[in-house]
Amino acid sequence: MNKDMKRPVRKAVFPVAGLGTRFLPATKVMPKEMLPLVDRPLIQRAVEEAQEAGIEEFIFVSGRGKSLITQHFEIQPELREELERRDKLALLEKLSHSDIPSGKVQITMQQRALGLGHAVWCAKNLVGDEPFAVFLVDVMTLGEKGCMAQMVDAYNQHGGNVIASSPVPRDLTYKYGILDVENEGVDVSPINAMVEKPKPEDAPSNLHILGRYILQPEIFDILDERKIGAGGEIQLTDAMEKLMETQSFSSVKLKGETYDCGHHLGFIEANIAFALADPEFGDATHEILKKYINKDRKNAAA
Ligand code: G1P
Repeated sequence: MNKDMKRPVRKAVFPVAGLGTRFLPATKVMPKEMLPLVDRPLIQRAVEEAQEAGIEEFIFVSGRGKSLITQHFEIQPELREELERRDKLALLEKLSHSDIPSGKVQITMQQRALGLGHAVWCAKNLVGDEPFAVFLVDVMTLGEKGCMAQMVDAYNQHGGNVIASSPVPRDLTYKYGILDVENEGVDVSPINAMVEKPKPEDAPSNLHILGRYILQPEIFDILDERKIGAGGEIQLTDAMEKLMETQSFSSVKLKGETYDCGHHLGFIEANIAFALADPEFGDATHEILKKYINKDRKNAAA
């Protein structure tokens, strides 16, 4: 492996151009990435996960009607001053994670929805010639350590490309990218193969690609080919599979839980789980839930 393979991961790409039709009407005006998970938008949670992993530059692959996302990361001096004046220090701390310094946010446009591989390709010039992280904001994880921080630990040891994974029920493999790893029994394992959205009977395992990646810049040369894959889209998984011919890929089994916030029930569950895990809201949320689970569902609100 060449020594460049362990250059630090400084940049993160967030593909946020999707329309969010599943969440209509909530997302008629507001981007789905701005839906709050307990007390902060999904996109801020993803940016905080990146910050925890030492990432300093944030690249949003945006689309039409998505300008609220970048507005969220504007520094608002008046708001900060007002919170300081009122001595709201805890709020100031929460807010500080959305205050990204000058020159550290970049925006590029994905003008047509041609697939995840295409969305990542749109960041090519902004990423340049260095390794980078990709965050799918629909997916949130909860664990002692953030998912990307766990991946960076593995990257620092093994270099190359790193994909976070976790098991899914076999009958759901058709919804995800699925990995074939060398050793399913260990936390970090070399990947032998991967396939996008296989039928359960064709899936090499039940380890799914959960939506966090560390990739080497050579992926862009492959994405340049714009090869169409599953679902008629330019798939990131296909490009990664090609890159595997020349570079190493490791799977990091997430220590923690994964929540698919891209559909209603997953999003509701994530809100419950994150509220329960929150030092500020956890105990009170637990009490509220007890009130509901002990009652007949129809009369729960009475
Ligand atoms: C994408 C990826 C897939 C991954 C999934 C995680 O699929 O292509 O490999 O497992 O995200 O959520 P999508 O959900 O965009 O269809």
